[in-house]
Amino acid sequence: MADQKVSNSKSGQGLDYQTVHQQSLDNPAEFWSEQAKNLPWYTAPKTTLEKDEQGSWRWFPDGEMNTCYMAVDHHVEQGRGDQVAIYYDSPVTMTKRSITYKELQNDVATFAGVLADHGVVKGDTVVIYMPMSPQSVIAMLACARLGAVHSVVFGGFAPRELAVRIDDAKPKVILTASCGIELHNILPYKPLLDEALFQANHQPDYCIVFQRSHFNAADMKEGRDVDWKEALLRTTPAPCTPVKATDPLYILYTSGTTGTPKGVVRDNGGHAVAMKYSMDAIYDQQPGDVFWAASDVGWVVGHSYIVYAPLIAGLSTILYEGKPVKTPDAGAFWRVCSEYGVKALFAAPTAFRAIRKEDPECEMAQKYDLSKLQYLFAAGERLDPATWDWLNHSLGLPVIDHWWQTETGWAIAANPMGIEPMTTKPGSSSKPSAGFNVKIFDADGNQQPAGEQGSIVIQEPLPPGCLYSIWGNHQRFRAGYMDPFPGYYLSGDGGYIDEEGYLFVMGRTDDIINIAGHRLSTGEMEEVVASHPAVAECAVIGIHDELRGQLPVGFVLLKDGHLLDPTVMEEAMVRLVRKKIGPVACFKKVMVVNRLPKTRSGKILRKLLRQIADGESYTIPSTIDDPECIDEISMIMAERGLIERQPVKEDDAPLQ
Ligand code: COA
Ligand code: AMP
Repeated sequence: MADQKVSNSKSGQGLDYQTVHQQSLDNPAEFWSEQAKNLPWYTAPKTTLEKDEQGSWRWFPDGEMNTCYMAVDHHVEQGRGDQVAIYYDSPVTMTKRSITYKELQNDVATFAGVLADHGVVKGDTVVIYMPMSPQSVIAMLACARLGAVHSVVFGGFAPRELAVRIDDAKPKVILTASCGIELHNILPYKPLLDEALFQANHQPDYCIVFQRSHFNAADMKEGRDVDWKEALLRTTPAPCTPVKATDPLYILYTSGTTGTPKGVVRDNGGHAVAMKYSMDAIYDQQPGDVFWAASDVGWVVGHSYIVYAPLIAGLSTILYEGKPVKTPDAGAFWRVCSEYGVKALFAAPTAFRAIRKEDPECEMAQKYDLSKLQYLFAAGERLDPATWDWLNHSLGLPVIDHWWQTETGWAIAANPMGIEPMTTKPGSSSKPSAGFNVKIFDADGNQQPAGEQGSIVIQEPLPPGCLYSIWGNHQRFRAGYMDPFPGYYLSGDGGYIDEEGYLFVMGRTDDIINIAGHRLSTGEMEEVVASHPAVAECAVIGIHDELRGQLPVGFVLLKDGHLLDPTVMEEAMVRLVRKKIGPVACFKKVMVVNRLPKTRSGKILRKLLRQIADGESYTIPSTIDDPECIDEISMIMAERGLIERQPVKEDDAPLQ
């Protein structure tokens, strides 16, 4: 256990963590109806919690509200119109802009007018494929204003991934920009969208294109493509449309265990309550504070903590279009924190590792006045103890690892800075947040004692803000999350709870891997690699990487007669995955092998491959079909620089 500097024990509502958490589990309806009172509803909910006809727990079913009103208009009405809502800082375009709540209200209402002019009404879906510019936030809020359901797709995905999402969400309108800018690359978003629409079955009525000066989207399809700025000149602002708390606010696609991404659906009311509550309880942020989640609006962290939570809570949020390093240097994060007076910074451990790699002594931080910075939060992947230690010692601030998923929308476990800062244990995301009744199960659903690893599950009902279905496929929601252990949500993560109630999340129990805090499916990568005509069989595994946490590596067995040069094969596979999934997959290493380790029943021993690649001790299962292939694969891995030496074999290590 390690102590770190934290402010004196505080108590959001005058209560300690244990009491708050227990209350939230003993009487969830009472707990969350109290929290709901902190928001400006059109019609306050009388019913807090009930099951819908599909059997999902739903929050505040008779409440009426509008998320955009809560996030924007309400603050203007309350006299915060001149406060900055968004600081846009873009080192890649050398642009800075401060947008007040009043300006944001005007921009959002006007763009909502544009959407309405193009037929968007309550309940319609709108896909947003945009870079980190203010227009993407305006677009999200404008959808919310009309009661339309947005689905933001991260720019690092390839056109095929975008096409799959378009076919699933069936948007009436798609919003895009001419380009995104990544370090020194111009990413042609509009042409990528055109390619996606060529592949998709579903076609939108309109594509509204924001023209950035860096790249001209010359190909505007007549009748379909609309110039964003010109449309703004022709429209009138649209008011907020009241929606039911249970109406969907957005769909966010995330990797599942198959190639088809899952559309996590979030409601309006429960989400708003969770966002407002967490901003105070977990992050200790009050109206007027400056909060920075250094993520992308294409990910759940961006949805929740760049856009909705800080704005609903009346903070100033930062929209940063840049990297932790190279834009222009490893001091970028500290420069932004200092310039805008950031109180809490939230980033992926990969981002902090990238800074540490370039500035091991964290000397850049000394150049800036960081007196306003009080907290560092990390999530997206496990915060490894070495990075935790480096941050804690370099900055002398509390470093808070917190665990969450696209599905939950906010932290399942955290050290709640606004309730009672606890002692931190490196490697642990501390204790469950309000409303999350976390347990560890073995494969048969028996609760594990303290210290024993197993599947992490959460007892129903999940608190407000969590998913209640998969878009267009409720059966997939039931089968994937709720049916394996009736009455519990299966998180897909494994880990343990120690004697003091601290949760340690150790990794996924499925084939999802985490690359630079980005969630990707190795199963999907395998599907793509296997589609190559020369490939007979393949396995893709996630191996440890010092910077990005994990990286995918492919092993392929060629069909008879395909005696291709391994380098040529590797290049072909890398191109294919980049083309089908996108650069975000960072798929760069492929090894051609003569045999894959398999059980006699034909199951590929992926875990064994990963253990060898990560230099862990391993046992060759007695069920292996061809034990000699292990030496051969180890040799290939050593030749490719994946492993430095022959890994340890331990006869008495646990069977995998
Ligand atoms: N649009 C289009 N392409 C994108 C993209 C976007 N929004 N974001 C990333 N990419 C591309 C990159 O251009 C790169 O392509 P390349 O192979 O042609 O170079 C690829 O996807 C991988 O991107 P990235 O992992 O960002 O690599 P990088 O070398 O540019 O940066 C880090 C390395 C460590 C600085 C960066 O990964 C990072 O900041 N990681 C933290 C990410 C994070 O915040 N994750 C948490 C989300 S909650
Ligand atoms: P995403 O849905 O993209 O947010 O990814 C969620 C997954 O990231 C989780 O299921 C975990 O596997 C991993 N993850 C996120 N935060 C943490 C954390 N603090 N510790 C460990 N794993 C994490």
